[in-house]
Amino acid sequence: LSHFQSDKAFSGKKILITSGPTQEAIDPVRFISNHSSGKMGAAIAEAFASQGAEVHLVLGKGAKKPKDSSIHIHPVVSAQEMYDQAVQIHPSADIAVFAAAVADYAPKHIADEKIKKGGDSMSIELIKNVDIALALGKKKAPHQTHIGFALETENEEFHAKEKLSKKNFDLIVLNSMRDAGAGFQTDTNKVRIFSEDGTEVNSDLLPKEKIAQLILEKLKQLPVKI
Ligand code: CTP
Ligand code: CA
Repeated sequence: LSHFQSDKAFSGKKILITSGPTQEAIDPVRFISNHSSGKMGAAIAEAFASQGAEVHLVLGKGAKKPKDSSIHIHPVVSAQEMYDQAVQIHPSADIAVFAAAVADYAPKHIADEKIKKGGDSMSIELIKNVDIALALGKKKAPHQTHIGFALETENEEFHAKEKLSKKNFDLIVLNSMRDAGAGFQTDTNKVRIFSEDGTEVNSDLLPKEKIAQLILEKLKQLPVKI
């Protein structure tokens, strides 16, 4: 019986996950985006669903879809759409995981027609997108748990811990950029998980499914929220 209980540790819990890239339109045929594959988000969604949770995945275009058909998928394109969708789900969620690679900036104006080639240089004015994790972090209720991700190229630990506190996360998962096989498009990852209580977990280079399980294990060790 105890084994059964630990398998379904998240039954009755509602999980919000953002995953994949956002696309920010320039004109009807062009956009700004990034190389996020959504593999980590899909793995986390599957892990929660397999442990009994009701999972809502707010998913950027082209991102990996999980196989488990019980997972609710909310497709979005831009950062603004991702926010609009997430903010609706968030109030009733117990846990929010911010795995998306949200474009930090978007074109200030979206051209109605395809922009024609002109002079030897051109520029596009960009304006800052909504920070979904930051905005929802400000709305976080005492019973809610937030998990963020960080990918840094220098001063990794410092920047990750800064984001942990600024965005009101309970945990932040720092992706290693230094190791081959870790990062955006890969099936494996190597992470350090920093907790708001000061503890840290380090992983080996592992399949993203195993990384997802590690994150869920760490989550279970956090003080119970009521
Ligand atoms: N995030 C988000 N909305 C944004 C930007 C980031 O929800 N507009 C979330 C990401 O999903 C991730 C965390 O915030 O969980 C950190 O993302 P990251 O890009 O590393 O942080 P930024 O605050 O955008 O800082 P920078 O890109 O300058 O390092
Ligand atoms: Ca960013």
